[in-house]
Amino acid sequence: MISKDTIEKVFETARVEEVIGDFVQLKRAGSNLKGLSPFVNEKSPSFMVSPVKQIWKDFSSGKGGNAVTFLMEHEHFTYPEAIKYLAVKYNIEIEETVQTDEDVAQANEKESMYLVSEFAQKYFHHTLLETDEGKAIGLSYFKERGFTSDTIKKFGLGYSPETWDAFTKEALGKGYKLEYLEKTGLSIFKEDKQFDRFKGRVMFPIQSMSGRVLGFGGRILTSDKKAAKYLNSPESDIYHKSKVLYGIFHAKQAIAKLNNCYLVEGYTDVIQMHQAGIENVVASSGTALTSDQIRLINRLTPNITVLFDGDAAGLRASIRGIDLILEAGMNVKVCTFPDGDDPDSFARKTSYEDLLQYFEDNAKDFIQFKASLLMQEAKNDPIKKADLIRDMVISISKIPDRIKREVYIKECSRIMDISEDVLFNTLAQLVKKDLSEANKQFKEEQKAFEVVRNDIAQPTQVDIQYELEHKIIQILLLYGDKEAEFEDTILAQNEEGETIEVKEQNKYKVFQRIYLSLQEDEVELANPIFKAIYNHLIAYFNENEVFELDKYLMQLPDELAQEVTTILMNEEREVLHNWEVQQIYVKQKEATISQYVTETIITLRWYLVNKIIDDLKNNISNGEQSDNSETLEMVMAYLGLTHIFSKSLGRVLSRYN
Ligand code: CTP
Ligand code: MN
Repeated sequence: MISKDTIEKVFETARVEEVIGDFVQLKRAGSNLKGLSPFVNEKSPSFMVSPVKQIWKDFSSGKGGNAVTFLMEHEHFTYPEAIKYLAVKYNIEIEETVQTDEDVAQANEKESMYLVSEFAQKYFHHTLLETDEGKAIGLSYFKERGFTSDTIKKFGLGYSPETWDAFTKEALGKGYKLEYLEKTGLSIFKEDKQFDRFKGRVMFPIQSMSGRVLGFGGRILTSDKKAAKYLNSPESDIYHKSKVLYGIFHAKQAIAKLNNCYLVEGYTDVIQMHQAGIENVVASSGTALTSDQIRLINRLTPNITVLFDGDAAGLRASIRGIDLILEAGMNVKVCTFPDGDDPDSFARKTSYEDLLQYFEDNAKDFIQFKASLLMQEAKNDPIKKADLIRDMVISISKIPDRIKREVYIKECSRIMDISEDVLFNTLAQLVKKDLSEANKQFKEEQKAFEVVRNDIAQPTQVDIQYELEHKIIQILLLYGDKEAEFEDTILAQNEEGETIEVKEQNKYKVFQRIYLSLQEDEVELANPIFKAIYNHLIAYFNENEVFELDKYLMQLPDELAQEVTTILMNEEREVLHNWEVQQIYVKQKEATISQYVTETIITLRWYLVNKIIDDLKNNISNGEQSDNSETLEMVMAYLGLTHIFSKSLGRVLSRYN
């Protein structure tokens, strides 16, 4: 277990904007930072980070929280994993409290898989650099390919010995469990035998965006035709092939900074480009590009340059990937190499400056690229040419932005020498088809939504109550510990001995005032989550002189912490979206907290009392009782109360419903 001190230190040190900044490109927006949601595909940023409050909110997925919850959501870390990650990031020494056997036994399964992968990476790396076999076979191979020692270290490359179970034996001896060796695919256990999956291969560790080792690619060194050239880790709880990009950890900063990402096919392409000085490069690792991978890039930049090997065989297959990139609303360029070259071989023999120049001169817009590629095939065959044109228009139809689509149609018309009208008509048909499909899907979703909504159908009255309760929580979070003057009406006796009402100004903390006022009517918040937060908050204010959001969030159960950040961020968003109007509103709020608190409470009480009145009236009209005089009396009493509320608000409240 990580000690409480360490956890507190981590929370004090970690800056949410820095932690998230490693994964999402953030731009200033007022006092907040904004970026594209890392959880859904989107074109306009709805992801917000508040450096002041040290919280984040994703308005697309509804997720939100602090630095730790971000890591848990995004990296799928457990709580201790997230704390450890932050401790490493901020150079905080991790103090462990004594672990019981039970703690050890409960040590998270995924964490165990990460740990054994990390161990494997170190083992292979060490074997490559420090053992005779590693040096003679693995290291000499890498040197032959032109990799420098620095490059080998940077990418943590390794070598797995040519022995059936050298690694497995070592790992088991070091106390790593068979279960995790098997689950990560590093070892294979059959009957009572054990094997190293990667025996006799040079090793390329595959890292997550945050640098954790997820799996490996192992390249064979013999030219055995039967064995696969590359062997990769199998799918596991920590390694999902379709969701990783090789090199993303080393590339992410350069991608964001240069606002472009080169996409290549293989491990060696990435490494050789890095060595040549081009760091904004990742590989799809031989598989067809997936939308998850595109999303990973889209978080860092909207621009992709796809680098294709010289051979045309893979080209056509890769074109599908381009359509996926276009669909994501990204800008895509394509660059090929001279015959026989791939990024690896080309980068190896070209200087940094020449490489950049080459990309500059040869990176074509996807439309030119597709045209020139397919034109060669079509030549003078009109049928093929017609297919090609349709093919291009299909690509163009994937672009979400209308203006961009039009520009491309014009370009296409020019290149293919065909009238714009024909192209626009084809496009219109395609887009219409897409739209009707999208529409159908939308309607289906809508229907599903309605079913859910009907299940929890609530009259609008409850929404008003929801808003008011929301506001009360918001006030507590923002001003709960502040002191303000409130007006009390107390009963006193005058000199004649009559009971009279006297107005008195008294100082209260906002939370006390709210608590006391709500208690007066024995009002309980109706929304269970608000109610839970409310109870927590009141207890917290009672125990703590000042309110520190981060500390408060730390001791709050997860789902409540989620809700709290949502409430706070909603307020941020109001400010951001409705700046002018909102500024006035905020000013008012700050100028007279007491008035704001009073009004909110009275409005809620007024609302609740009106509900009671309605209930009573219903009872009367249902006619269950013959004598309604008692009920009517109550109605009158409650109506009197609403008048008092109206008076103290200084205006006549109109009924909401
Ligand atoms: N790949 C794979 N399994 C294979 C072949 C390829 O997973 N049997 C993946 C690897 O990620 C590889 C990429 O596809 O890096 C590109 O394949 P290829 O061009 O054949 O490999 P290179 O990276 O060019 O490797 P090398 O230059 O060492 O031949
Ligand atoms: Mn290659």
